[in-house]
Amino acid sequence: MSNISDTTADADREHDWREAGDAWGHAANDWAYLYEHYALDVMVAIFQQIGIADGVRVLDMACGSGLALRHAEAMGATTAGIDAAATLVEIARDRNPDADLRLGSMFELPWEDGTFDAVMSINGIWGGCEAALAEANRVLQPGGMIGLSFWGTGTPNDLRGCFKAFARHASRSTSPA
Ligand SMILES: C[S@@+](CC[C@H](N)C(=O)[O-])C[C@H]1O[C@@H](n2cnc3c(N)ncnc32)[C@H](O)[C@@H]1O
Repeated sequence: MSNISDTTADADREHDWREAGDAWGHAANDWAYLYEHYALDVMVAIFQQIGIADGVRVLDMACGSGLALRHAEAMGATTAGIDAAATLVEIARDRNPDADLRLGSMFELPWEDGTFDAVMSINGIWGGCEAALAEANRVLQPGGMIGLSFWGTGTPNDLRGCFKAFARHASRSTSPA
């Protein structure tokens, strides 16, 4: 049973992930088809490190429009993903009809303990989101692998200029193609 402060914290967290999802998903088509591929090299590097292969059960936290899952599935993995943006999850489902894809928060993963052999998150777990790492650890099998990436500072990793340009030119559409 939760006390009042727990309830307030839960309400805030609920609000936050939905707000983040609305922001990330407001130009979902642009993200999915013009932008998401920029991280392909990162996906390849992470896949090697966490052992994506036939039969590996992998979860992508903050999976966006599901490009990484599409590639992981092509390599034989059994795929699952979660993201806060409904419009991105809709595209991810189109791309990955066999994947277990959920709209929700990476801070409260809707999977049992030890469900996955590997967990990844590509530029999705930000500073201050340490609680999401505890969840990643919970849903991993003992000895499972976690692969994370995030942008760095300086050329070529600092993508803030890219994001600003993207935001300036992004369409206002919210519905996936
Ligand atoms: C930089 S994008 C990365 C998306 C995808 N991993 C990629 O590489 O294209 C960050 C993603 O985090 C998602 N996100 C933000 N907060 C979240 C939360 N609390 N739970 C789940 N997803 C979240 C956003 O909706 C967005 O899709």
